[in-house]
Amino acid sequence: MQIKKITVLIVFITFLYNCDSPNTETPKPQIIPMPTHMESTKGEFILDNSVGMSFDSNFEVSAIFLKEFIEKGSSIQLEKNNKISFIQDDTISNDEGYQLTISPKQIEIRAKTDQGAFYAVQSIRQLLPADFENGTFTSEKFAIPSITIKDEPQFKHRGMHLDVGRHFFSVDFIKKYIDALAMLKMNTFHWHLTEDQGWRIEIKKYPKLQEIAAFRDQTLIGSYDPDQQQFDGKRYGGYYTQKEIKDVVAYAQTRHVTIIPEIEMPGHAQAAISAYPELGCTGEQVKVAETWGVFDHIFCSKDETFEFLENVLDEVLELFPSKYIHIGGDEAPKTHWEKCPNCQQRIKEEGLKDEHELQNYFITRIEKYLNGKGRQIIGWDEILEGGLAPNATVMSWRGTDGAIEAAKQHHNVIMTPTSHCYFDYKQSDNEGEPLANSGGFLPLKKVYSFNPIPEELSEEESQYVLGGQGNVWTEYIPNEKQLEYMVFPRILAMSEVLWTPTKNKNYADFVARVENFHQRMDALDINYANHLYEVDGEVVATGYELKSILENKTIRFSTDGTEPNVTSEVYSGVIPIDKDLIIKAAIFDDDKKLGATFTQPINYHKALGKKISINAQPSKTYAGSGADGLINGITGSDTRINDKEWLGFDGEDLEITIDLGEEMTINSIETRFYEAPWMWIYAPKVIEYGFGEHGTSSKVEIPESKDTHANIKIDLNATTRYIHLRIPNSGLIPEGKQGAGHQPWTFIDEIIIN
Ligand code: ACM
Ligand code: ZN
Repeated sequence: MQIKKITVLIVFITFLYNCDSPNTETPKPQIIPMPTHMESTKGEFILDNSVGMSFDSNFEVSAIFLKEFIEKGSSIQLEKNNKISFIQDDTISNDEGYQLTISPKQIEIRAKTDQGAFYAVQSIRQLLPADFENGTFTSEKFAIPSITIKDEPQFKHRGMHLDVGRHFFSVDFIKKYIDALAMLKMNTFHWHLTEDQGWRIEIKKYPKLQEIAAFRDQTLIGSYDPDQQQFDGKRYGGYYTQKEIKDVVAYAQTRHVTIIPEIEMPGHAQAAISAYPELGCTGEQVKVAETWGVFDHIFCSKDETFEFLENVLDEVLELFPSKYIHIGGDEAPKTHWEKCPNCQQRIKEEGLKDEHELQNYFITRIEKYLNGKGRQIIGWDEILEGGLAPNATVMSWRGTDGAIEAAKQHHNVIMTPTSHCYFDYKQSDNEGEPLANSGGFLPLKKVYSFNPIPEELSEEESQYVLGGQGNVWTEYIPNEKQLEYMVFPRILAMSEVLWTPTKNKNYADFVARVENFHQRMDALDINYANHLYEVDGEVVATGYELKSILENKTIRFSTDGTEPNVTSEVYSGVIPIDKDLIIKAAIFDDDKKLGATFTQPINYHKALGKKISINAQPSKTYAGSGADGLINGITGSDTRINDKEWLGFDGEDLEITIDLGEEMTINSIETRFYEAPWMWIYAPKVIEYGFGEHGTSSKVEIPESKDTHANIKIDLNATTRYIHLRIPNSGLIPEGKQGAGHQPWTFIDEIIIN
């Protein structure tokens, strides 16, 4: 019922819109992020050589941006008249808000600040054809349909992060990234400048940061699996000079983007320690890191380290005028601090309980230093451990618990939970997607569904949520084109999440605007991912259901494995499953195939759609489509365990009962387990089975896996209604392996009964 209601609502909104329209041919305005209030009015404004612009000096940045956008984007040159006017309006309550009125006579921009006017300009920009973006608009005029917009952001902090430590990106590219933020009314660029794998900011007092810390001897290629690691043997690195940084900061100011630099401490400091080994606890000469992960070499808490960090920060503060400085604080293992005489001395002297309180001491001492210089700190949510520095803002990434705890303590928070904000995660299951962080899966729709306000917070507490941002860690993102692919179009969704009131969000309407935005991204030479023309499917009670992301698209399909084409059957309802099928489907428009072919083999077997029960609950993160997913005819991904098919259990012995509904002859039981020791995932050693509701009578060993999957097929000749399986966890992780001494995970895929 829910779905029907939404459809009716969309139809109604579209209807309302068309009523307002002067003529039905006028395309609907396609602004991203969607403005708070927007109303089309009668007529149109003709943008041509007769148009001029007037503005006070307080609107210089926004007015010049618009003038250059029009004049560089087309052959139209602006006069000096007030057909386009910028008007200071102090009745607009939000500093970033604006009112835009486009009528046949004029374009009027009202705002309290230049920043508000700048966002009006970005809306005008998106009302102009994409050809303006790259100077290819050749007509002498363009008619902008009349419109009134009253707009303001929902959140203050609307950001994007970029890790330039794992891979380095040029100054020109950083500017292109900032341009994209500005176009989407995002106001913060979080520049992650220091990492284990490279220190990327010139610090004049410490030249070895440039000579040594900025370069690594080689880089891991491909998978992180420690048993299969391979390196490229190539020296890699670079850093931004202070001159370049000043240039980037000034550039960002002309786009109303604030840059928050991140200088990581006490962890993710191996590159700095490689240049100055005395900054660590052991004094050991280490290399700039060549693999990914979390490293034990962190900054020591002795005075000399603070002197170094304060000197570094002094230079950082000269370069970045931002109120906030991000000091990291995440993923700092305490193993060296536990053994270090200096750190233990510090704990004793300061009366600290343990190394967590030492981390609090570390962060608080840096906070005090920066507060003394008029700045505030932001830290990742680990800064909550051992107590929060008095004025710190928390960036919540490990879910939302950190944000909830901090907001309840009346600290500001910025939301970046991995679940909705990590753009280094894969966005599609398609073959051909680039290698990505194996931790997660974040399709466009999930980003769009993000609500930065955790539901656990009261209205009063939610005032502490400043906003959110997309994070882009670059372990698996070696170049600009791939980075753009990971960022676009998910940044479009994030911009709307952070700007548009949550109640106005509508995914179907959003994806239609994303489709339209493709032209603009093409003109801007942005290598966006396009998954809008993909088909998705799932098993439902009556068979297999196909879905497309965009409405009003035609899906054509086959069930015999042949490639769908313009004459294939048009999908109109659930496909019955009564034998093995290979469903192939694609979106067609005007008799042309638009996106990739979706392929789903369905393995018809005796347990398909029958009853199954399991004694234990899979972990929330690896719950697939629940127990039913183990007998739905669909095998899980070969590479990704957090899909709809694999179930992950955290240490339990499993008891599974399948009820076939009636007695049947069965000839085999088949399944497979995932095997990835570096992720603490082990295939079980044996599987026991029997033919009652409970209890087992036979046992077989599961052959050792040669790759990441252990397959088992048990041949039988039995007549039964029930099949009972007992699958004991493989036992504690052996010494010498990651997670030694812990209970491993069990991951199980489809159970095929023939
Ligand atoms: C993080 O992802 N380590 C903040
Ligand atoms: Zn130490």
